[in-house]
Amino acid sequence: MNISELVLELSDTIPDFPKSGIVFRDLTPVFADADAFTAVIDDLAARFSGRFDAVVGVEARGFLLAAAIAYAKHVPLVAVRKAGKLPGEVLAENYALEYGTATLEIRPGQLAPGSRVLIVDDVLATGGSSSAAARLVERSGYVVAGIGLVLELDGLGGRDRLSTYDVYSIVAER
Ligand code: ADE
Repeated sequence: MNISELVLELSDTIPDFPKSGIVFRDLTPVFADADAFTAVIDDLAARFSGRFDAVVGVEARGFLLAAAIAYAKHVPLVAVRKAGKLPGEVLAENYALEYGTATLEIRPGQLAPGSRVLIVDDVLATGGSSSAAARLVERSGYVVAGIGLVLELDGLGGRDRLSTYDVYSIVAER
């Protein structure tokens, strides 16, 4: 079984979570399988190999992926967090998500100016959080090297919203 098939086989689908009408795709069983998680990290890191010198994880599930990539590739790790979690000076971006609106924040000044940043998250839905993260990376003075995801949902326009970036998902439900 290749990594895409493994992700699809392990992932769960939960109707009406966290709100009625949302079909939630849960990748925690992928993270809970050591072989699958390792293969996911290796695949994302290999796809952008040599093209990033830092990794940004988007709260919360993106943290799990970004930390492992940062460790595996020995590159700096920066957290993009939900509003109010980061101390000191922060940049903020609002965005619409599949089930509401939210704000993401970054602490600027943690990476060298011009750093090539790989943004990672687990699921691409509307692309709202990834595009907000990309704007935060750019406003911080870095370059978005790419956006790496595990699962891309169909019909929510995520890829269109990120059309100016190199977007890669291990599984695209299209
Ligand atoms: N994030 C946004 N929409 C989602 C969905 N349907 N499943 C999992 N994560 C999501």
